[in-house]
Amino acid sequence: MNERLNAITSRVMEHLHDVIAEFKVTEDELRSALDFLTAVGKSEEYPLLSDVLLVSVAVDNVTHWAEQDGNSTASNVEGPLYRDEAPILIAPVNICSVEGAEDDILFVSGQVVSSEDGSPLANAVLDVWQANGEGDYENEDPNQPDYNLRGRMLTDENGRYEFRSVVPAAYEIGKGGPVGEFLKTIGRHAWRPAHIHFKLAQEGFNSVTTMLFIEDDPYIDDDAIGAVKSSLILQLEKCADPDEMAKRGVERPFYTAEYDFKLRPETTGEARSKENSTDFVASK
Ligand SMILES: [Fe+2]
Repeated sequence: MNERLNAITSRVMEHLHDVIAEFKVTEDELRSALDFLTAVGKSEEYPLLSDVLLVSVAVDNVTHWAEQDGNSTASNVEGPLYRDEAPILIAPVNICSVEGAEDDILFVSGQVVSSEDGSPLANAVLDVWQANGEGDYENEDPNQPDYNLRGRMLTDENGRYEFRSVVPAAYEIGKGGPVGEFLKTIGRHAWRPAHIHFKLAQEGFNSVTTMLFIEDDPYIDDDAIGAVKSSLILQLEKCADPDEMAKRGVERPFYTAEYDFKLRPETTGEARSKENSTDFVASK
């Protein structure tokens, strides 16, 4: 017998019974709920349902408890749009292969350090992916080249990284199926505030999957999947200085953002970072 599953099931049942008693749930409502769950399964939308019920983030928080201590960079959910084997990029890194005339150019830079003593981590791997200025990921958008706005890079000898990109836009998560219909019915929107996803790996440290949110996004306080954490907000600064523009090789004002990642020395039993770093070296 699976005792853990038995205990979890008992608690879920207790809570369901409380809700049924509190709201005096009717047989019609139960039938609708069961029909809804059947439709979610047929549409393969259970991961999306888990996201909008804020379950995915809750599970990530307890799984990566060590990264929620406030000293190291907080973990966050990977989401469904990660792709393995993003191109390995050498400085100066530009993850955007087609910049639209309307796109805001963005340079993101910072340092990867140990959360224990702040020492810089050279050769840490940053794996980055994001939506474009329209809120579309390349693998959902036939107009973008393969692996656009995705890339892997290494920190330099001072633990620093920098990449050129564009400011991503907010986007709506799949709303064409039963989960979207459900959100509409309960008066919730499907918007996610603009963000950039990261995976960080360094031998001897816990790997971290996270995302940084663009400050001032209209949905920053109302993410459809509840993933925003105050420590993960990226502050953008606009630069219109012609000398700086010339130095960066850009012809219009651009944005910069600084963010330092703090990795936690490896927790016993978690060897993820080691595996990732080894893969990266092998694929160079
Ligand atoms: Fe995303």
